[in-house]
Amino acid sequence: MNEATLKEARILMVDDDVNSTCLMTNFLHRIGYGQLRSINDSTHTFEAIEAFAPDLILLDLAMPNISGFQVLEALRADRQGENQIPVLVLTGDDSAKNKRRALAAGATDLLVKPFDTSEVSMRIRNLLQAHFLRLEIQEQNRVLEDRVRERTRELEGALENLRATQRQLLQQERLSAFGEMAGGVVHDFSNSLMSIIGYSEMLITNAKARADEATALEYLRIINTAGRDGAHVVSRLRDFYRPRGAADLLEPLDLNEIVTQSIALAKPRGAKREREKTVSFRTDFKGEVMAAGIGAELREVLTNLIFNALDAIPGAGIITLRTFTQRGSAIVEVTDTGAGMSAEVRERCLEPFFTTKGDQGTGLGLAMVFGIIKRHQGALEIESEPGKGATFRIQLPACAQGVATPSGNVLAIVPRAEAA
Ligand SMILES: Nc1ncnc2c1ncn2[C@@H]1O[C@H](COP(=O)(O)OP(=O)(O)O)[C@@H](O)[C@H]1O
Ligand SMILES: [Mg+2]
Repeated sequence: MNEATLKEARILMVDDDVNSTCLMTNFLHRIGYGQLRSINDSTHTFEAIEAFAPDLILLDLAMPNISGFQVLEALRADRQGENQIPVLVLTGDDSAKNKRRALAAGATDLLVKPFDTSEVSMRIRNLLQAHFLRLEIQEQNRVLEDRVRERTRELEGALENLRATQRQLLQQERLSAFGEMAGGVVHDFSNSLMSIIGYSEMLITNAKARADEATALEYLRIINTAGRDGAHVVSRLRDFYRPRGAADLLEPLDLNEIVTQSIALAKPRGAKREREKTVSFRTDFKGEVMAAGIGAELREVLTNLIFNALDAIPGAGIITLRTFTQRGSAIVEVTDTGAGMSAEVRERCLEPFFTTKGDQGTGLGLAMVFGIIKRHQGALEIESEPGKGATFRIQLPACAQGVATPSGNVLAIVPRAEAA
């Protein structure tokens, strides 16, 4: 703190004794203080404080009307905490009780008359220095608080922007997931249509098949299953934002039956090749294999795998569907003797839109397969090498038995320990 600033300080003297204030004024002038004011009637103290805004008050205690103690108490009540003006009490009464009372009432410091001038000058200097330092700190705090407020506002703005971006991203992700799923639905739905069209065409064009009631009924059953599966596929669109609900309860399914149905559903596409005896289907069932699942979805999985196998077999080949139970899991394998996959294709084949078939492929079949297996809490393993065919192994929670619910549904019971 420089000397000039200190000597700019405003000092207010309150003392009923005119002599005292004159002496003090002269003294203060002499040691360099220029801004001085004195009042001898203590009733005007607060007006003077208001008008003069002192940095220091020199206060007498024994005064008529309003005593120095009353001034101190009023000052303290008026300015709580902040903006306290230091008060140096000048008193003729040097009793300990008097001093204590003054300090308790809020005096910053106290001097007993008669004074030693150099002591007065030092005390005034100390009080002013402390006062100015405090003001400076207060000012700095204010600046800091403003800065913090401003930064907080900026951060809040940035946070809001971030949230908006996140919302947008989520929306975009949902849209693209929805697009993918819609693509998958179209893909699987056209698989169902293909079965319906294929078998109905056989009935239309083949009078012998029509005449044989058993064959006709079999074809109609397949058409019926394909139609129902198609409806299930479409319901996935509606269910997009809805988690699996009560209507999707897993049923106990005979996997051998699902495999047989899937081969029948996929056959129209393989029919021509089978007729030319280039591709044959084989099944390998090791006893009854029961899994917990949704029939329509598992048929979708298997027909997709069969179509891929057909695509992978350029000339003659075999497609084998095998089922068995292993350590509490129901397993279905689809193996073909086709072209197989390179390591890169094997790694990427589950990605939506990944296809090596150019315009002929959609790249959605395996993505749907994977999604369905995941929703069944199952697992998918792929074994394949170029030139050595491929095996897709699906592992599903096996189910011990089914129970009927009050609504007439049948729930699959998955043994807990084994399902893990
Ligand atoms: N059984 C298989 N043998 C060889 N490659 C396969 C087989 N199944 C799938 N793939 C590879 O995985 C890719 C992705 O399959 P998929 O998701 O069904 O899409 P798409 O059949 O429309 O190409 C195929 O393009 C193919 O390269
Ligand atoms: Mg495919």
